[in-house]
Amino acid sequence: MSIQKPKGTQDLLPGEIEKWQYVESKARELCQRFNYREIRTPVFEHTELFQRGVGETTDIVEKEMYTFLDKGDRSISLRPEGTAGVVRSYVENKLYGEPDVSKLYYVGPMFRYEQPQSGRYRQFHQFGIEAIGSVDPSLDAEVIALGYTFYREIGIKDVTVEINSVGNPSVRAAYREHIQQFFAPVKDQLCKDCQSRYERNPMRILDCKIDQKYCEGAPTIVEHLDEECRTHFARVQQYLTALGVPFRLNPRLVRGLDYYTHTAFEYKAAGIGAIDTIGGGGRYNGLVGQIGGQDQPGVGLALGMERILLVLQAQGADIPAEKPLDVYLIGLGEAAETRIVGLLHELRLEGLTAEKDYQSRKLKAQMKSADRYKAAYVGILGDNELEKGEIAVKALATGEQETLSLSEFARTLAARQRG
Ligand code: HAM
Repeated sequence: MSIQKPKGTQDLLPGEIEKWQYVESKARELCQRFNYREIRTPVFEHTELFQRGVGETTDIVEKEMYTFLDKGDRSISLRPEGTAGVVRSYVENKLYGEPDVSKLYYVGPMFRYEQPQSGRYRQFHQFGIEAIGSVDPSLDAEVIALGYTFYREIGIKDVTVEINSVGNPSVRAAYREHIQQFFAPVKDQLCKDCQSRYERNPMRILDCKIDQKYCEGAPTIVEHLDEECRTHFARVQQYLTALGVPFRLNPRLVRGLDYYTHTAFEYKAAGIGAIDTIGGGGRYNGLVGQIGGQDQPGVGLALGMERILLVLQAQGADIPAEKPLDVYLIGLGEAAETRIVGLLHELRLEGLTAEKDYQSRKLKAQMKSADRYKAAYVGILGDNELEKGEIAVKALATGEQETLSLSEFARTLAARQRG
């Protein structure tokens, strides 16, 4: 039996990959403008990092991690998200020694053992940013604005930004009690997961799809914010307004990771089915300390690449597809074919995209390939032309034919394609 890809993974094939490259290049270009620099951290880390960072009672750590013992009996996990690894690296490499805020970005695969469906995979990809070293609410707003700008610039329409404040640890401790009191009368009716969340992480009940009917009228954390949290949240909103980023307050927004403090946000897009959250993030003021570094506040986001591509497709956005060939070369006869190999290389060194046949096919089949590649020009070299030091050139779009000297061929076409 042939071997198939694991459930929840995708092969990104030529034809599709160009869209990924387009979205990734836009991400890199945007990060440069906002002064974020790339960081690449390992795809696997010590399991403890995620237990401490993401939180032991989160669904991600409890149920969704790919965890295994390596040959040295160390517990290793494939990263379910990017923030914990970036923060680990920030601490390990003492990036806090730098005078400014560390503004970092990453693009790469993440792994969660979830039930796959449209927009949800076991291996998926995130574009994320992390800004570590400041409590300034203008940084929260900048991060939110970067994500919003990114969606806009790659051509996604109607993105909604939802924001909330999840307070600081003391606000959350008090709120936890309010939430427990609220759910106490219906505790036994809650789903099995939420019965355990009730003790371990009661805020997460608000995010449960099954128990939404019991969440009606639940106290919200914003009602319980202290002065410091309220001021921070108000400033973030002022900055967002100044940045022209429209947002909606969603007091029910709780994120699936434990490290958040103050600002939490999500981006939503309609038209891709039940899973409409295309990105999210927030502030994490205690995480660096929890992971073992000098305490430093941070804020960041991650946008799901697969979901971005789904939305672009659903909205019929114009994404640049496969790049056509500049030149397809055909050699007729052994001597001409030998010359073609050299010419092909010359074209490529001139910066053109060029191709030839590798299967000794007839002229007609080779012309078909040139068509399929949407080549701008086909160069045909036979014994006659070779003798005269020339090559016949056809522009496929217009059908126009001409003869160019072999010595000028690559340079002439390069000048035209560049111009
Ligand atoms: P998250 O909300 O868990 O946050 O994930 C961010 C985005 O990754 C989601 O909005 C979604 O687009 C995408 N995503 C998550 N799980 C899947 C999946 N199974 N299949 C496809 N796409 C998925 C984080 O990961 C945080 N690290 C964000 C952050 C950065 N907070 C601060 N800094």
